[in-house]
Amino acid sequence: MPLLFKGIKELRNHIKSLRKEQGASVGFVPTMGYLHEGHRELIKSSKMQNDITVLSVFVNPTQFGEGEDYERYPRDLDRDLAVCEEEGVDVVFAPTVEKMYPEGFSTEVVVKGIEDVLEGKFRPGHFRGVATVVLKLLNIVNPDRAYFGEKDYQQLKLIERMVSDLNLPVEIVPVPVVREKDGLAYSSRNTYLSPEERESALSIYRSFLLAKRLIEKGNREADNIKVAIREFIMSHPKVKKIDYVEITDENLNPKDIIENGDRILVAVWVGNTRLIDNWKVEV
Ligand code: PAJ
Repeated sequence: MPLLFKGIKELRNHIKSLRKEQGASVGFVPTMGYLHEGHRELIKSSKMQNDITVLSVFVNPTQFGEGEDYERYPRDLDRDLAVCEEEGVDVVFAPTVEKMYPEGFSTEVVVKGIEDVLEGKFRPGHFRGVATVVLKLLNIVNPDRAYFGEKDYQQLKLIERMVSDLNLPVEIVPVPVVREKDGLAYSSRNTYLSPEERESALSIYRSFLLAKRLIEKGNREADNIKVAIREFIMSHPKVKKIDYVEITDENLNPKDIIENGDRILVAVWVGNTRLIDNWKVEV
């Protein structure tokens, strides 16, 4: 079983002693729990590159907006611990909200620019919550490397920016999107989907394949590809609305003419579930 810590001081002391006594390198996988194959891939990367792997489970209230799914977000620490045991995670950190945000807490990390586009536009305050909690977690765990999925591509870019701007002594390691056999990106939020909704949710990945075919045929105008993606996704019965379909370069700058290495990013409501996904253009 991995060692479970709920206290910040206890976790810090344990990691400090592992470093001191064993000279261990530390890999860190921050999560909100309800672990799935995507998280497992992050753990595997960390296990390969570090002596010790630490995983955090913390459903961070400050990154959820009003009316979002903070309360109903799936939680099951026992299940997460079992996954961590299977994957060989050494240490699990699962703090309480009170420990992370004690009374009087009043600091916020703002990564300018990035929070005004894409996810940031539709989820005001979301990225401040993410940046603040990730900086706290990095300061608590003090890892050599930290692992982030490309599934949340804008989040990854935000963290890279913050780490570079604030000279944090950690290497950020990106991990490609992990998908189910039929293409649906793994997400803790997939548990909300009914079978019919799940079927409609497949339109997201299939729209990337459609874009790929169109680009291969020489259609490189982003506007045309975005329209084709929107029309395709919207033609599925359980799709309620699309928040955005954007095509950007790898640094999230919008593109007019698509090139290899660009990203197609989408946010789609399937029933009452909001799903995000993205695809790297490689034709
Ligand atoms: P969570 O949604 O639990 O995701 C934890 C990490 O797993 C993130 O880096 C995310 O990008 C990655 N991940 C999730 N699904 C993935 C998939 N299908 N393929 C590859 N990687 C995937 O993201 C968060 O939690 C939070 O915002 C957090 C960073 C922990 C801060 O609270």
